Amino acid sequence: MSDTVLSSQQLPQHIAFIMDGNGRWAKSKGKPRVFGHRAGVKSVRRTIRTAARLGVKAVTLFAFSSENWQRPEEEVSLLMELFMVALTNEVKRLHKNDLKLKVIGDTSAFSQRLQDKIAEAEAITENNKGMQVNVAANYGGKWDIAQATKRIAKQIETGEVSVEEIDEALLSKHMSLSDLPEVDLMIRTSGESRISNFMLWQMAYAELYFCPCHWPDFDEDALIEAVSWFVNRERRFGCTGEQVKALMTTEKGF
Ligand code: IPE
Ligand code: IPE
Ligand code: MG
Repeated sequence: MSDTVLSSQQLPQHIAFIMDGNGRWAKSKGKPRVFGHRAGVKSVRRTIRTAARLGVKAVTLFAFSSENWQRPEEEVSLLMELFMVALTNEVKRLHKNDLKLKVIGDTSAFSQRLQDKIAEAEAITENNKGMQVNVAANYGGKWDIAQATKRIAKQIETGEVSVEEIDEALLSKHMSLSDLPEVDLMIRTSGESRISNFMLWQMAYAELYFCPCHWPDFDEDALIEAVSWFVNRERRFGCTGEQVKALMTTEKGF
């Protein structure tokens, strides 16, 4: 018996998602991989809605890794097109719900059309005060550390910073999402237990949660289950999914 009331402070503030298994999900249904990617977009929408209703401060979704260029050209261009369409459609919904969109990764490799779309989507939601939704696109954890290092090296070149001043805090300042709390909970779907070069720096102390279901099947209950697991683990506090659910607001109009 527990008379302790669960408060939203005990929830993870920043949740990162490795959205894996779209291809396998489609295959299990005898459909082409793209069918899985399309279903994956619906899962993204659902996940954002649930996290926002729980009062989470930020979510980061791994959409395209720096290694994903190695996939067949046809799949890569399809993923780009899907990203383009999703940005166009979803930004209105995000804005309506006061959510802020940020894309992290080396976006310079994308087409100008996609880069413009990203800039436009970020600008529309820039001043929103609700949950921050980060999409990692052409992102790699090693790339992130390298780009931070490069920026510091440039400051050393100009004499703005000295070599002695390099420390973890300075590096953190130059990593992607330095204005957010580090990741508390990382969720990977589809049963693989690796982090595939995701946010290596920002996940240094994250709890890692691996769930067997494929990303298109990751629903509200699956997220609640992961969050309850986090609360029970991190805070040594026996909470139930129902208690987590009770923290959800209903006013969001997704
Ligand atoms: C995740 O699903 C989506 C992306 C990486 C873009 P996958 O495409 O990796 O699906 P599986 O792992 O092949 O099933
Ligand atoms: C990780 O999934 C990257 C994304 C979810 C975008 P992958 O399916 O690409 O990872 P690996 O290749 O199995 O490690
Ligand atoms: Mg995969």
